Amino acid sequence: MKNILIVSGHTNLNNSVANKKILEELRKRLPNAEIDYLDKLYPDYRISVEKEQEKLLKAEIIVFQYPVFWYSMPSLLEKWMEEVFQHGFSHGSTGDKLKNKKIIVSLTTGAPKEAYNNIDDFLNPIKASAKLCQMEYIGSVVTYGVSYQIRNDKGKEIEEKAINHADRLIEMINNV
Ligand SMILES: Cc1cc2nc3c(=O)[nH]c(=O)nc-3n(C[C@H](O)[C@H](O)[C@H](O)COP(=O)(O)O)c2cc1C
Repeated sequence: MKNILIVSGHTNLNNSVANKKILEELRKRLPNAEIDYLDKLYPDYRISVEKEQEKLLKAEIIVFQYPVFWYSMPSLLEKWMEEVFQHGFSHGSTGDKLKNKKIIVSLTTGAPKEAYNNIDDFLNPIKASAKLCQMEYIGSVVTYGVSYQIRNDKGKEIEEKAINHADRLIEMINNV
């Protein structure tokens, strides 16, 4: 089995249904994967660059797991990437530490699928960053329509979607 690092970018998993359930499934079904719960590790947003870079060095497959916030990644994951993907580490003439590592983007949205013409367009910054770092972008796994506004009425439905999301993500990982 390859070394897998799942970076959870949710800003507060205590207030999550979809991402929490997806991560629970992944923890059960990929027991050897390392799950990086950024909200638990860095509630103050003070990220340990050294520790995070060590985790990246060990990983062969890196998964970004997050809820879409403002058509992008949550601030915590954005900050993690800004600080950890350092010039000379991940990119630049001497920065090749992420070279040939695989990256998968795994995300949930509040809006339904019909609201997105092509959600992959919103992933272009991640794809371009991966290219700059000589990483291989494998693909995305998306679950639409799991808004926090409907969780009281549709909690069960969201959990089922989350299990299906974990199935698709594990299949993508297994095919790498
Ligand atoms: C600050 C904020 C911004 C959001 N922006 C978007 C958005 O741009 N597009 C979208 O489809 N959903 C958006 N949502 C909805 C979240 O993506 C949705 O609630 C989340 O995927 C549910 O996952 P969770 O149960 O793990 O929190 C936003 C939610 C918050 C709190």
